This record gives sequence, structure tokens and C-alpha cells, in this order.
Amino acid sequence: MVKASEIRQKYLKFFASRGHKIIPSAPLVPENDPTVLFTTAGMHPLVPYLLGQPHPLGKRLVDYQKCLRTDDIDEVGDTFHHTFFEMLGNWSLGDYFKKEAIAWSYEFLTQELNIDPDRLYVSCFAGDADAPKDKESAAIWASVGIPRDRIYFFGKKDNWWGPAGQTGPCGPDTEMYFDATQKPCGPNCQPGDNCGRFCEIWNDVFMQYNKTADGRFEKLPQPNVDTGMGLDRTTAVINGFDDGYLTDLWQPIIKSIEKTSGKKYAENKKAFRIIADHFRAATFVVTDGVLPSNKERGYILRRLIRRAALQLRNLDTNPSQSYVPVVDAVINLMKQYYPDINSPTPRQTIGSEITKFQTTLDRGLKEFKKVSAVDGKVAFDLFQTYGFPWELTVELALEKGQKINKLEFETEFKKHQDLSRTANKGVFKGGLQDHSDVTTKYHTVTHLLHAALRQILGTHVQQKGSNITGDRLRFDFSHPEKLTPDQVNQVENIINQKISEDIKVVKTEMPKSQALAEGALAFFPERYPDFASVYQIGNFSKELCGGPHVNSTGEIGRIKITKEESAGAGLRRIYATAVSKKNSPQA
Ligand code: SER
Repeated sequence: MVKASEIRQKYLKFFASRGHKIIPSAPLVPENDPTVLFTTAGMHPLVPYLLGQPHPLGKRLVDYQKCLRTDDIDEVGDTFHHTFFEMLGNWSLGDYFKKEAIAWSYEFLTQELNIDPDRLYVSCFAGDADAPKDKESAAIWASVGIPRDRIYFFGKKDNWWGPAGQTGPCGPDTEMYFDATQKPCGPNCQPGDNCGRFCEIWNDVFMQYNKTADGRFEKLPQPNVDTGMGLDRTTAVINGFDDGYLTDLWQPIIKSIEKTSGKKYAENKKAFRIIADHFRAATFVVTDGVLPSNKERGYILRRLIRRAALQLRNLDTNPSQSYVPVVDAVINLMKQYYPDINSPTPRQTIGSEITKFQTTLDRGLKEFKKVSAVDGKVAFDLFQTYGFPWELTVELALEKGQKINKLEFETEFKKHQDLSRTANKGVFKGGLQDHSDVTTKYHTVTHLLHAALRQILGTHVQQKGSNITGDRLRFDFSHPEKLTPDQVNQVENIINQKISEDIKVVKTEMPKSQALAEGALAFFPERYPDFASVYQIGNFSKELCGGPHVNSTGEIGRIKITKEESAGAGLRRIYATAVSKKNSPQA
């Protein structure tokens, strides 16, 4: 069996030996980007560089990036849908282009992964009003050895990637497929027809365009290459598995569920897959600072945990105990690649959410007993209020000798879904690259706030998180007690003083070790590359940071601290917002 760990290592090595610098995986929660909930592709954290900002490590990068996609959460339980997954990727930031990218892709697949070239198929962009047919990529594929009859041309739907939000870098791509079953579904069997024969394993995107807010595709100052290979899927298909959970990325987790439940995977596949997938995702989401809640990221985390807990219940275990070995298995398996998951936090956070859920479930069960006729509307209310999934309600109704109309339930469900989609769109509005002025200003305020807190409260204060929206910033930091009104005032005054001094914000690039030795603050020191940028605001603040920031503090306008509260044991949270209309971040 080819192991995922081998593929990961080979990939990094292959591209490192071709001049690529290895960069660390960025957090799942994008830093200072309020327009997306989670990192959904390897390129997300690199958007500023794809748009032309120089990367401190140069023009060739390679990494494995943790990603989370929740659009298909209801599909998890089948063989290949996962919420959390890892993407291997290599980038050229205005350096090499199609020729090298394609030749290296082919070489890696056939020489390093030893894929039989006869089982490789590719597709290229067919061309439309926005961009021409990508004959160049097809010619390169032919020259490296893919016969013309295995090179397909498809439209935007299949062979165009991005932008990740509504605006941002994008372009035609060329996709590589592995002939997994070697069994045609009919005379016209071809990649992209979803018959199960061809599995897409790698995508080379040629990012030449920036999609603007008014829907135009303007040429980027530099053409980039962005490639992405899903580690889970590739490992499974090249091993000939028709079930992704059979690889070394999942087996230790599956075994932990067998152990904790005393049941066999083979007889309970769907439940096992949901438990494994969702606890793996939840462990990573918690690690990146999210707490379960009824909003946005917190709500997604809550759903992941509750859905997994229900499946543990279906396996006749007590979820508030049986989840522990599963989360531990995830940590043991992944800590080598993501050292920060190795902490008691995921276990604690997931455990307390399960306890809350069980209380709600019990209340819901009581409520259920009172209902005489269970219809689709009741089923939906139970789902909505107590988190009862459809299957559970059906089961309970059957015990009462009643059948429920699924269509009624689905109609209610759909109404709700449309509502939450509309709400979600708000988050994505503006597009990924839209580091608008207001975001940038608030970002600089977080640096001022960090320094001011340390001046007033002491140098034990450390940033533990931040979140910026169009009209406020939130900042979490370590401090054992509530701030007095006087302390809050002093912090606010210092920040406004520094703003009125209109101090220049100066960016320099230096080795991380030097920056730290010089006393630069670092939010998550291990997450910055060895050579990193440092932003300095006079003698007042110095932090390792990817930017962007205002050029000078006068651009910010006055700010006000609107709230100070607890954010957990030993943690405080501050909200701040712009006050002066004329000069405010909203202007
Ligand atoms: N961004 C592309 C993808 O997600 C390639 O990395 O497939």
C-alpha cells in the first residue's frame, strides 16, 4: 500500500529539490479575512501573493494545507466525501508557467507515485468569451507523453478555477484523472462524467486573471501557477481502494471507533465514517480557536460534534465517554504534521459540547413523548430546536407506530436552508482578496491594541485570536482578570494617541529568529515561515505579521473600545470600533 505519509513527504521533497520553499500550513480560520469562514483550498492563504505582493520566501512555494469544506456535510458517510481534508500544492508566483508545471506534474505522478501512464487522462480549458482555448497546455501534455485521445477539452464548469470568493485570482486549469476501475460505463465514457471510472487527482491552475467586482476578467500583473492535490483522495485511488477510509489517513481512527464501540466498521460503515470525519474536522477547528455556538464557524463546529455524537449513540455507546479515544486517535495520527493539535483543548471543548447536546436531546425526547401525531413539520421543529436529525425522528415515530412524510420535512428544511444560505452569502460577499481599507485599518489597530494592553497590564498579555468585520474588531488575549474601567480607558487613550501622532508603519523582512530575538511579538510563532515580515509602528509596536497594514496610523481615525468580557479561563476579549465618521475606517 502507498501511504499518505509517503506521498506527503515525496511531494515536498520533489518540489523542494526544484527550488520550492516549504511553507507551513496556515490556520483553518483565515487570519484577518472576514470574507470566508474557513480555508477551503491551498491557495487561500496565498491570495495576497497571487495578486502580486512579494512573498518573503520567494517565487516557488510548496506545502500541505489543511482545508475545510462543509457544503456537502450531508454527503459524509459515503466513500469519499470529507469535510476536513489536506491539499498538497505547489506555486509559482510569477515564475515558471505551464511548461514546467505540467512536466513536473507528469513526472511526479509517473516517477514518484509510479502511476501507470496508460491510466492517466487530462482535460484542458475549451475556451470562451473570457479566455481562449488552452491549446498550449494540451500541446505540453502531448509532448510529455499523454496521447491526444486522452486529452479532453471542457468549459468553465470543469476547467476553470476560482475565484474562491466572488472576486480574486482565477484562470483556466488542467486536471489530471486516474483511471480507477478501467471499466468504461459505455461507448462515450470519459473523464468528468462521474460514472466512477475516472477520479480527478490533481489540478494545475494557471492564474492569469483577476475577476473584478463588476464581473470582468482582468489580466494579473504576473501569471501564477496554483496546483492542488487532495491527499485523501489521491492516496485512496492510487491504491485501488473504492473506499477512502481504508487508507492510513483513516485506519487508526476507524480502529479507535471499533475499540470504543465494540462494533465492526464493515457492519456500520456510515456511522463510522461520520464519526471519523466529523471528529477529525472538529479537532482541527477547535485547535484553530473556534468554540461551538449558534453562529457561523461556531455553528458548523456544533453541527460536526453533534452529528458525530448521534452516531456514537447509534452505536449504543455513551457519546460523552466514547468520543475520547477517537479524538485521541486523530491527535496521535496528525500531531507530527500539525504540532498545535497536540493539546487537551479539543478533547475538553468537544466533551463539553457533547454534554450540552445530551441535555438538549433528553429535553427533546420528553417533548417528543407529548406529541400525538408526528408530521414533517414536527420533525423539522425537533430538528431545529433539539437537533434531532430526520433519521432519529423516523425511528422514534416508528416506535409509536407512525410514519412521517419525508417531503413535508424536506420542504421545511429547504425553507430554512435558503434562509441560512442567504445569511452565509453576506460572509462571502466582497470576495476573498477584498482586503478592503476598513479591514486593513482594523488590522493595524490590533497591533496598537496588543502593544497598549502590554503597556498597561503587563507583558504577560499575549494575543490569542482576532476577528475583523466591516464594523468592528474583536481581540482575544491572555490576562487573568477583568479590566477595570480605568484600564480600558487608558488602553483606548494610548491607541488614539498613537493614531493622532500619525506614525509610519514600516515593514521589513528578516529571519524569524532575528525578529523574535529583537523582541517582535508573534501571534503564533510556529506558524510564520523562517524568513518573515515584521511590521513596526515607531518604537511602540513590532510584530511578525503577513499584513496588510495602513501606511501610517493617521489613516485610521479614532477608535473606541465598546466591550470587554471574558473569553474563557485566563482569557479576555475586547471589541473596538471606529468612532469618527469623517475619518473612520468605514469611510
Ligand atoms: N486552487 C485549486 C484547487 O483548489 C488548485 O490548488 O483545486
